[in-house]
Amino acid sequence: MKAKKLIEVALPIKEISAESVRDKSIRHGHISTLHLWWARRPLPVCRAIVFASLVPDPMDENCPEAFKYAVEMLLNTELGKLHYKPYKDIPYTSIVDEMEDNHRNRLMMFIGKFSEKCQENMKDGKSTPPKEQLDDWSLIKWENKNNPKILRIARELIFVAYQSDKRPDATWEELHAEFNRLYDAIPKAEKNLYELKDRHIETDEVKQLEAELQTAIDTFQNEMPSVFDPFAGGGAIPLEAARLGCRSYGNDINPVAHIIERGSAEFPQKYGKPIAYSKEEFEKLYGEEGIKMAQEDERDITFDGETYRIPNRLAFDVEFYANQIYSDLKYLECQLYPELNNKTPFVYYWAKVAKCTNPSCNAEIPLLGQFYISKRRGAPKKDWKYLQPHIEGSDISFSIESGECNESGWIGRANLKCPCCGNVTEAKELKKQFKVGKDGRRLLYVICENNGIRSYHIPSDDYLKLFPQIEQTPTPIEPMPVEYTQALPSCTWGMEKWGQLFSRRQAFIINKLKESISKVKEKVDCDKDYNKAVITYLSFLLDRIIVRFTEFGVWHVLQETVEHPFGRQAIPMKFSYPEMNPFSDLSGAYFGQLSAIVAYINEENSFYSFFTNSSSGEKEQFDKKSITSVVTDPPYYDAIAYADLSDFFYVWQKQIIGDLFPTTYATPLTPKTDECTALKHRHNGNYDKAKSHFENKLTQIFDAIENQTTDTVSIMFAHQSTEAWTTLCNSILDARMNITGSWPMDTEVSIALKTDKAFLESSVTVACRPSERKGFADFDEVKHDIRQLVKAEVEKLYGLGFRGADLLTACFGQAVSVFGHYKLVETAEGDPVSVGQLLEFARESAAQALLEGVPGEPQTKFYCGWLQMNGMGECAFDDVNKYTRVGVNVEIRQLQSDRLLITEGSQQHLATAKEHLGNNETWGTQATDYMISQVHRMMMAYHMGNQVQLLNLVRDLCPQSDAPQWRVLDFLGGHLPEGDDLNDVKGILASAEMLRQKCKEAVQHQEASLDFED
Ligand SMILES: C[S@@+](CC[C@H](N)C(=O)[O-])C[C@H]1O[C@@H](n2cnc3c(N)ncnc32)[C@H](O)[C@@H]1O
Repeated sequence: MKAKKLIEVALPIKEISAESVRDKSIRHGHISTLHLWWARRPLPVCRAIVFASLVPDPMDENCPEAFKYAVEMLLNTELGKLHYKPYKDIPYTSIVDEMEDNHRNRLMMFIGKFSEKCQENMKDGKSTPPKEQLDDWSLIKWENKNNPKILRIARELIFVAYQSDKRPDATWEELHAEFNRLYDAIPKAEKNLYELKDRHIETDEVKQLEAELQTAIDTFQNEMPSVFDPFAGGGAIPLEAARLGCRSYGNDINPVAHIIERGSAEFPQKYGKPIAYSKEEFEKLYGEEGIKMAQEDERDITFDGETYRIPNRLAFDVEFYANQIYSDLKYLECQLYPELNNKTPFVYYWAKVAKCTNPSCNAEIPLLGQFYISKRRGAPKKDWKYLQPHIEGSDISFSIESGECNESGWIGRANLKCPCCGNVTEAKELKKQFKVGKDGRRLLYVICENNGIRSYHIPSDDYLKLFPQIEQTPTPIEPMPVEYTQALPSCTWGMEKWGQLFSRRQAFIINKLKESISKVKEKVDCDKDYNKAVITYLSFLLDRIIVRFTEFGVWHVLQETVEHPFGRQAIPMKFSYPEMNPFSDLSGAYFGQLSAIVAYINEENSFYSFFTNSSSGEKEQFDKKSITSVVTDPPYYDAIAYADLSDFFYVWQKQIIGDLFPTTYATPLTPKTDECTALKHRHNGNYDKAKSHFENKLTQIFDAIENQTTDTVSIMFAHQSTEAWTTLCNSILDARMNITGSWPMDTEVSIALKTDKAFLESSVTVACRPSERKGFADFDEVKHDIRQLVKAEVEKLYGLGFRGADLLTACFGQAVSVFGHYKLVETAEGDPVSVGQLLEFARESAAQALLEGVPGEPQTKFYCGWLQMNGMGECAFDDVNKYTRVGVNVEIRQLQSDRLLITEGSQQHLATAKEHLGNNETWGTQATDYMISQVHRMMMAYHMGNQVQLLNLVRDLCPQSDAPQWRVLDFLGGHLPEGDDLNDVKGILASAEMLRQKCKEAVQHQEASLDFED
């Protein structure tokens, strides 16, 4: 019998969560900055899951001795002894608890360990800057992604785990020596090749050294496990599997994802290597421009009079050709973006214009939802800038003012309120104008920069006259998915083709860029794979520009930057937009975009992954049981329409690199039919068909995986609905696997108060194994087991800080693992129990476990219990009456007079926070008040944006994370229906850490008097 893998037993989820949340804000050289892809997994989660899927639990009785020895030698001697020593006192728990110094815990500390400083801060209730949270020796820390010492340890542990599994008799000494021999052969072969002068010329010697290097890599990797991600997306998982030295495979059905994957985890690792050029060759290839680039410090290029040594050939070439394109087009800047008062324009802000439908007004109104130009973070309010409208009859003009703006927007919910006559033009009327092309454009303001100082201008008529007439250039005519209005609402405003997202001027420039890239293609030999890689990055550069260069871009007033429209996996309708001058120094412009690409190529160059582009689920893709482990992140049900959204890029990429990768770009648009998503617009609006399509496709893919994999299959899933989980679990069970481990991890957190987007989001990773389902079971018995397991899990995860819906979802894995043992689970009546029923029961059990801990008086217990059973809907008096007598001990009349229960005729419903507190200003402010009133008071404070009151309530009622009010909030978060109350609860929970932190810091600084109003 084989030992369990670490992922089935233990994971440092707090540490992984902390670094994953940090990962979201890392920019320079990060995979997410290479090219946009939706729902990327943070790198620390991917690295941790891959590693933990490949090494056994060293405490397992079947763990090979050689592996235990490896842990001892690599993590418990020399520096490892110090750095991977388990915590003396686990920092994020309130009790004093020493972590046993055993091999399992050392492995956990190797994956991720909180730094000494962070441990101290956690104990004192202080926060630690994200960069300093993890110990510098943690495998998953961003700074360690290329750390040779740490990666060597990780790779050796994986090597020993894999080899000792195959050869149980091999000793640590033998495996250690073998690892050293195989591993150290690679840098030797690299040195031989990369030091050879002019290796770009394919001589026999070059070919031989290249072959020797490839052999060294293959010989090592053939002794390492293989990892496959059938839904590779942006490539994060294959990138991490390759980083850990494995044979890494990724597949994605989407051609755009596929090319991003190659750009992320294949090209930089293959080609982003040093090269030495003789003077003659270098100057012949790169001329004056190249010599100039070589002299600039930032590239670390050395020249000793005879040889140019370039640390990263690919990064240099991409930059070189991109510079050529820029020089080629720079002349357009003064024509298209003429100087304004001797200053270079950065951004032009345009509004679409519609006509007021009042015939006696007919004003041409710029469709503005708000008037701010700049509210730079940290700038005093007096320095904010906004447009001040001036109305004269039906004439609208603007000036630019400083300070706070009191105007409210003219367009809201797509209805237009005329600022001249007050008439409201409804959305449907506006749409008519848009559809017949009657919507105009008006340039409202121009932002310039001179010597780092920004200035804001209303363009004069004379300035506008400088704009040349621009010819209409071709734009993509491929159709948009007009029926998918949920993500592409612009389609209801007359948008039908992808090319319509661009203004005439934008399209003109994009076409010029395209032509320039074609010229580069003519210069280089595009039959060579290396040059294909270079051109691919030039097409990424174009993608990075066009995504910020549409009529749907976003002006970020807090940062003064141009952002792409895909913030929420959609292109929301926009009535005004910024147009950047792509030739300027603006961070979003040409060179800003280029530097993101070059930084990535420079940062990522370890082992490469192999990618294929097809629908996963082919049993023949790999031989039976030839893959060691699958780590994957399938689509989240109906949350993201990858194929529809990625057509935005596909239609341009196809024009630029379609001929270089003809099979990838063979279809007119990205393939949709086989995409594994539950999108009803692809099934004539039929939700059930969409659902079963997802389930069938997922089962087919899991079935193939089960057939091909020897060890664990780890699946990350971020959807919170029971329905989506039911589908996922059905597919796992139908593919003859069962869940053997389940780990929630925070992957994103936004703690801005009152931003309404501030929801904690976690994903759950389940580890699965092939499993034979045997026998029958009685649901009541299964329920008993599940209740126990779920209760223990809720307590554990609650202690680790998981809350609300995340907490309830996190228990699904445990429930399925019990259920999945049996062929059939039946109710007492003999009816089969479905996974859906099971998960509902698991959710209820989790809620019940939380409710057991719901503190307080019967009123609060009544509120929570009733909410759990009946929601917020209307109920008959009798039902409530029964519940109050049986469930909790409270008089119904009392509930009515406390306004917790609202009576209308014979019907009752639970009060919302607003209904409960009404105009009463004191209920819920005192420690002696009902807990539910206190929580409702916090919700109202949040709802009204009254941060001071919210902080005062937290300070007075629940400054500690284990205060009962948080438990009640969690409970509400898991049970309230969609609406204001739920949003408010989620918002508070997402900010909880920050609120408590602020209270603590304020108390520490002002022991004597704490007053947030100051
Ligand atoms: C959640 S995303 C993966 C994101 C990825 N882990 C990352 O970090 O970027 C799911 C991916 O599955 C892909 N996909 C959907 N249906 C597929 C199918 N039938 N075969 C292969 N890939 C598919 C989508 O194109 C998408 O890229």
